[in-house]
Amino acid sequence: MKTKIFLLTCLAAAFTLKAAAQEISIDKGWKFAIGDSTQWASPTYNDANWKPINLAYDWESQGYPNTDGFGWYRSHLVIPSSLKEKSYLKDSLRITLNNVDDNDEVYLNGQLIAKYGGQKGDIKNGNYGPRSYTIAANNPAILWDKQNVLAIRIFDTGGAGGLYGDKFTLSMADLMDPVSINTDAEFSYGDNNSLNKSIKLVTTSNYAYKGKLAFKVTDPENGTVLYEKTNDADFTAGKPFTYSFSIARLEKKSYVVSYTFTEEKSGKSITKTDGTPYVLTPYPSSKPKINGADVYGARPGNPFLYLIPASGKKPLIYAAQGLPDGLKLDANTGIITGVVTKKGDYPVTLTVKNNLGSNTKKFTIKIGDIIGLTPALGWNSWNAFGLSVNDERVRTAARTMIEKLSAHGWNYVNIDDGWEAEQRAASGEIVTNQKFPDMKATTDYVHSLGLKMGIYSSPGPRTCGGYLGSWQHEDQDAKTYGDWGIDYLKYDWCSYSEVTAKNPTLDDMKKPYQVMRASLDKIPRDIMFSFCQYGMGDVWKWGAEVGGNSWRSTGDIEDTWKSMSTIGFHQIADGPYAQPGHFNDPDMLVVGKVGWGDNQHNSRLTPDEQYTHISLWSLLSSPLLIGCDMGKLDKFTLGLLTNDEVLAIDQDALGKEAHQAIKEADYQVWIKDLADGGKAVGLFNTSDKYQTITLNRDENDLKGLTKIRDVWQQKYIITSGNTYSVKVAPHGVMLMKLSK
Ligand code: GAL
Repeated sequence: MKTKIFLLTCLAAAFTLKAAAQEISIDKGWKFAIGDSTQWASPTYNDANWKPINLAYDWESQGYPNTDGFGWYRSHLVIPSSLKEKSYLKDSLRITLNNVDDNDEVYLNGQLIAKYGGQKGDIKNGNYGPRSYTIAANNPAILWDKQNVLAIRIFDTGGAGGLYGDKFTLSMADLMDPVSINTDAEFSYGDNNSLNKSIKLVTTSNYAYKGKLAFKVTDPENGTVLYEKTNDADFTAGKPFTYSFSIARLEKKSYVVSYTFTEEKSGKSITKTDGTPYVLTPYPSSKPKINGADVYGARPGNPFLYLIPASGKKPLIYAAQGLPDGLKLDANTGIITGVVTKKGDYPVTLTVKNNLGSNTKKFTIKIGDIIGLTPALGWNSWNAFGLSVNDERVRTAARTMIEKLSAHGWNYVNIDDGWEAEQRAASGEIVTNQKFPDMKATTDYVHSLGLKMGIYSSPGPRTCGGYLGSWQHEDQDAKTYGDWGIDYLKYDWCSYSEVTAKNPTLDDMKKPYQVMRASLDKIPRDIMFSFCQYGMGDVWKWGAEVGGNSWRSTGDIEDTWKSMSTIGFHQIADGPYAQPGHFNDPDMLVVGKVGWGDNQHNSRLTPDEQYTHISLWSLLSSPLLIGCDMGKLDKFTLGLLTNDEVLAIDQDALGKEAHQAIKEADYQVWIKDLADGGKAVGLFNTSDKYQTITLNRDENDLKGLTKIRDVWQQKYIITSGNTYSVKVAPHGVMLMKLSK
């Protein structure tokens, strides 16, 4: 009884706070149970003994560690008719669940009103993400102004699970819901030094929108409005409204552009903001230069493949002195192949020439037991295409990597989930689905360019996307990967919880990785092994011992500041475990055009947040796996991914991870030790205002490091005295290298 009164008070409080906003928060007063029962949907089911749960956090962190599978959330709540009365359109009620991990069915007073089954309608297949459901306002399931029971059935495929995030609301569907401001076109640079772009107002409804579009450019440093313009804007489903603008090119920082459409009759409006891009990476030089890591590890007796990363005007001619026996270099492509049988460290001098000069670099090939001496640099299909990856998209990624990125060390082309069939061959062998007609041919193509090929699987019977996993077929799958020529395996956890103990011990958690490790060891190939179990059981403490080259230390990343910064700035406990051959993996990059499916959008990170993302991940010695549509790389994204001095921090041969040296409410300083005795330092502004951050070289072990280099701009900074102050943009960074 007591509990009930408490519950109602909470609800009343939540309601009064938000009632005026025509949106009510429903994030309070939930109860929870692990398991599954059809009765739990019923409004009359007695959930008095269920435990309360907080929707700000996953269920793992609230007393249900390592729990995958079904769980139910129930809430008793009043749905006020004032919500409907105050709304402009009165026809449907909207439920926003932001986010669901992974799939859900929503019951209102016992009736199924919405579901997200991910793949193929099955609640067990699919993905984490936000949901927004609408139901007709006259649906009898809704009891206006009365107690309702909202029951949500969740299936978690693996890792963190449940309903958790920052927005759980009830509202009425709005006139602006079907409207979007599409800002995905690229900013282009005009002849007269201008920055140009077109945006579009689009709708999916058959309403004829008529109103005004307000365009504004603001300097975030001082709030000055630089441009402001309002235009009439009318559009329908068949006829979007396009607005093109041109602004004089601005100095090297990001300005805030906002677009607000206000509909005339209803007064309703929708706003979107954009940041102007600015490229800090110097314009690429035509002179030849060898980039990339200083070391490369391979195992004796296995096929060797290394593409010398070199930039400069083509054609380039390559040479190598001191290559170990068994290796040969193609002087025209820079691809080194062969097999080395003898273990050892082989110092090599690499040279690259073109008609403008030549460049040499000392490089060490280490033939031994450890591969992946520096974090992997490459592309993975997931953040761009999700399960809609296909052969053509992978080939485009490979082609683009060679055209634009491999000169800087990028070399893995990794296919994530979505390549597998749903049924094995009669022999038990894994086969591809129709999107990958010939995996061997695709791999041969990738290798012919000098690049490497990665693939994905799961130790359970199924992957997170519901395709075939490797369970009880590990040897067979490793052999197939070997036959295809795979160089990298990302190995997830999904559905393994169905075949292991309910509350897995540390040994249970290690087991699937030990089994696959043993299978990979039987294959005469260097296959990088990447664990993807989201950090369970503090994987960083045992990932290396179990034979992982990297291990995910977090759940899945999204292209938001909240997600990226929460993940990035929390890589603390795992930091000391990074070492050559074994790295923490805070998940893949979310710069460029991302989308996890068929439709891609510009990363929702601002330009400054993207500089932070790449800088922080490099300081963390993270594998850098580009997660965008490579066919649509814009100038800004290319600048982010081709800065050799930034990449050198990630690829530093010492293999240490940066530590958080200073944490203040508004800024953080992260410092990474480098092989040459220098230190990479990131000054991160975590606030949403411009800030001056001061670094004191008498502190944090920085004494004696007199030179400061601005790594993004590749320029030394003139300083005097032991403190250095710099203005940093909101959510932005100053990345530096300090040396003697
Ligand atoms: C998730 C994993 C993602 C992606 C996805 C594929 O568990 O974290 O990175 O691989 O599975 O279904």
